[in-house]
Parts: sequence; structure tokens; C-alpha cells
Amino acid sequence: MDCVTFHVNGRETTLRDVSPTTTLLQYLRGPMRLPGTKEGCAEGDCGACTVVVLDAQAPGGPRWRAVNSCLLLVPLLHGKQIFTVEGLREKPGDEGLHPVQRALVDALGSQCGYCTPGVVMSMVEACHRPDLDAEWKLDDQMCGNLCRCTGYRPIREATREVAGSRPPDRLSAALAQKPEPQPALDYGTDSARGPQRFWIPTSWAALFEVMEAHPGHRFIQGATDLGLDVTKHGTHFDALISLQGLDALRTLEVDGTRWSVGAGVKLADLEDASDEALPPLSRMLRFFGSRQIKNSATVGGNVCNASPIGDLAPVFLALGATFIAAAATGERSIAADDFFTGYRTTALAAGELLARVEFDIPQASARFASYKVSKRREMDISAVAAALRVEVDDNDIITDARFVYGGMAATPARAHSAEAAAVGSPFAEATFEACAAAVASDFTPMSDHRGSAWYRSTVAANLMRGFYLDVSGTPMPRLSDRPSGTVLGGTPA
Ligand SMILES: Cc1cc2nc3c(=O)[nH]c(=O)nc-3n(C[C@H](O)[C@H](O)[C@H](O)COP(=O)(O)OP(=O)(O)OC[C@H]3O[C@@H](n4cnc5c(N)ncnc54)[C@H](O)[C@@H]3O)c2cc1C
Ligand code: FES
Ligand code: FES
Repeated sequence: MDCVTFHVNGRETTLRDVSPTTTLLQYLRGPMRLPGTKEGCAEGDCGACTVVVLDAQAPGGPRWRAVNSCLLLVPLLHGKQIFTVEGLREKPGDEGLHPVQRALVDALGSQCGYCTPGVVMSMVEACHRPDLDAEWKLDDQMCGNLCRCTGYRPIREATREVAGSRPPDRLSAALAQKPEPQPALDYGTDSARGPQRFWIPTSWAALFEVMEAHPGHRFIQGATDLGLDVTKHGTHFDALISLQGLDALRTLEVDGTRWSVGAGVKLADLEDASDEALPPLSRMLRFFGSRQIKNSATVGGNVCNASPIGDLAPVFLALGATFIAAAATGERSIAADDFFTGYRTTALAAGELLARVEFDIPQASARFASYKVSKRREMDISAVAAALRVEVDDNDIITDARFVYGGMAATPARAHSAEAAAVGSPFAEATFEACAAAVASDFTPMSDHRGSAWYRSTVAANLMRGFYLDVSGTPMPRLSDRPSGTVLGGTPA
């Protein structure tokens, strides 16, 4: 059986008898004695545990990604390089501070210092990103790092100072090296709760062989859902199969208007790709978790956890997407409408995985927008999400409608009565008033801590009204740059 091997701050580390469900954070602070990386929440919400990982397979070439080490299981690091806050300093003493540390000191961006290592590591990604060219992108870069005492203005100013600066550090040197392919892994340990195995197959044949030999397996990608089962529920996983070794799953192909999005595509990359081409998708991704979450989380993980409040599903349903399932016997297509079969269940059969999602970019006749309503704008789960789309002919008559809501039922679901009220009617305010009224008969939402049934129904109807106003001017409106009470204007360096 293999060992797990990766590089931390330039030094190789090898794991043998460490449980595969050990998180990177536990491993850093425990056996590696690198306590600079902090634990705040152990669930991806605070950013204290942020480190950077070199993603050698990233589209457009290798890049450093800020990630939450509290969610990553150590075998997911196999063959990778990571840096923690301890690895930034190249010389002892003050002059050894990395430029991001110096910028944070100069901006007075730290008080108690608990959040600071995580803040610094998110800034490290910022300094190696060439695309932080708008104010909202700075917010987005840092929104996964909570700080309870400094206030965000100094942190943000320090981030703006270093954004895109690409200092000649060890991380730049690593980017210049030829990227290594993902090595395969077959790892396992015994524990008091029983044996645990973890595989990273690097070919379809190897994947299907492991799947067949271990029918009780679970797939793992970014671990931003599955990692919580480990850290919060103490779940014992005995057979985990990572899909990160299959390059085909990381591919996002565009052929004319047809998009094919691999199940392993990271949400940060999908957000970039859809920014201009498909604003309803990038709108949904703007307020999806944090930069660290989007750097790890994948399309397949979001769709296959089949949460009724998973944010991508409404957009895919509104697009009329096709989900491609792969098995040892071949592939089959599942219409998005048929994919979610019940609360957290999908149409994937035993022996299948989601390989990719395919859809066409809407034509000029489409009016399409998406909405996420949550208690907080940043880092919150939807109370209600909606992806609303109509096709309109030359006479301004609606010829087709797909109104899809999340948070209103056990699965993401279409509002069929509202769609019926729209089709054949003029694109006019009165039509959308009728659609808003019809939404009430489409769903019987539940009441929970995110919102009462009344609240959800009212929001769903109001989103329909807002949709009409939004798309009356622009067929697929983009989100405007966000205003913020604590943030001063200006352009990043
Ligand atoms: C702090 C935080 C904030 C979050 N914010 C949001 C949010 O705003 N909106 C939202 O929708 N979600 C959110 N999530 C949930 C989560 O990040 C997403 O659902 C994410 O897309 C999951 O992707 P992953 O790659 O991490 O999945 P994983 O955790 O690796 O896997 C999730 C599930 O999918 C299965 N799976 C993965 N890939 C496949 C495949 N190809 N075929 C079959 N099964 C597969 C796994 O077996 C597992 O059951 C958040 C999570 C955290 C921790
Ligand atoms: S410890 Fe809070 S995000 Fe990891
Ligand atoms: S400096 Fe105290 S939490 Fe940020």
C-alpha cells in the first residue's frame, strides 16, 4: 500500500499510519508541529486555518489557491505542495517578513492575531492572482477570513497593496516549475473503528476497478461537504475514492453555444468562465461560500450532495441541462429535471458517478437571472434561491418558461403553475404578477431557522416580480459591484 507524500513549506512529508480522515489542519498542528495555522470553527466558516495549495492542474496553468485546511483530508494533498504561514519568512528577523506580512503590519491589520495567519495566507493567494482588478474582487478574496478585533478596512487596504504583486518568493519559483501530474494513490490504515482506505485513481479503468471492488465507497472531491461529516459528525468512512486524478473531470469545454462542464471543475474556475458568457451562473457563484470554499468545491460535489439549498442546481435546471453519468459500462444522459429524485437523493445508480454537466448558452430571445436570498450576503446558505428564465418572441410573447427554486421543497424544483401562467402571455408586469401569485400554489415550503414558510413563499413571489424589473432592461443582468459601508473606494494596485 502507498504512503501519502506531499511538500509543506518546501519540505517533503510522508504519512504512513495516519488515518485518511485526518484533516490537514490536524496534521499540521499535531505531527508536523506547525501551530501557526489556527482552528476557529473546523467547518470552513472563519478562515483561521487558511493555507495555500499549488493546483498544478488548474485551467490556464498552475496557481496557488487559498483553502481551508480544516476541511481537507490529508490524502487529498498527495503529490501536492502547500505553504503555511510558517513557510513565508525566508530570513529571520523583521527584514525576513514576506511582503504580505509587511503590508499587514504597515496597515495595522492585526490586533489579537488569531485570525492573522489565515488572513496572511488569503493575501498570499491575492498577491499571486493577476485578476484582482475590481473592488468587489478584493472583498470576495478576503470574505472567508473573519476578524473580530481589527476591523476590515486595514486588512482590505493591505490586500489591495499586495494584490497581483507577484513577489519573487518561493511560491513564484514553484509556479515556474513544470507542473507534475497527479500521482495515483492506494492508501489505508487500521483504527479502533475499523480499516479505512483511500484511493486516487488516475484512469477511468482504475476508477471503475476500485468502484467495483468496494461497492460501499463514497466519492470525495473538494471535501467542503464531506469534510463536515468528519469534523462535525465524526463519521467513519471506510472507503473513499478521490476523483482529483481524472483530468477529464477538470475540463470545461465550450463548443459554440454548447458548454460541457466536468464534475471536477472548481467553482472558482466556473465563476471566472461564466462571468461574461453566462451572468446568471456567475451571479449565483458570487455569494457562494468564500474564496477558500470555491477554490476547493466542485460542480459534481454541489450537484451530487443533492441539497435542496444547493445553489447550482436551480441554474442548471433553468438551463435545461443534461447530466452525464459514467459507469464501467459506458455513459448515459439524465435530464436535469429527472436528476433530483428526493431529499438528498439523485438518479445516479450504484456503479455510476457524475462525469459532467452539459447545456446550451441561452439565445438572444432569453431573459434569465438568478437570485440567492440569505440572512447574510457573504458566507451564508440560501433561505431561497431562484433561477428564472423566459424565452420571448418578436411580438413580446413568452414562448417558454423555466422558473426554478431552491429552498422551497425537498429538492430544487420548478414552479410549474407559474410557468404555465407565463407561457403564451405577454412579457409584461401583469403576467409576472400572475406568476408571482401562482408560485404560492406550486410549493408548500417548510419553516426552519432560515425562514418561515410564509417568509419563503413571500420571497419566492417577490423574486418573480423583481425578475421582471431586472430583465426588462438587460436580458441577462450581471451583478453590480457591491456597495459596502466599511470599504473605501479606489482601484487595486
Ligand atoms: C463554509 C461553507 C460554505 C458553503 N457555502 C455554500 C453555498 O453558498 N452554496 C452551496 O450550494 N453550497 C455551499 N456549501 C456546500 C459545499 O461547499 C458545496 O456543496 C460544494 O460544491 C461541494 O463540493 P465538493 O467538491 O467539496 O464536494 P465533496 O464534499 O467532496 O462531496 C460532496 C458529495 O458529493 C459526492 N460526489 C462528489 N462528486 C461526485 C461525482 N462526480 N459523482 C457522484 N457523487 C459525487 C460525494 O460523495 C459527497 O457525497 C458550503 C460549504 C461550506 C463548508
Ligand atoms: S477553522 Fe474555521 S475555516 Fe477552518
Ligand atoms: S486580529 Fe483579532 S481576530 Fe483578527
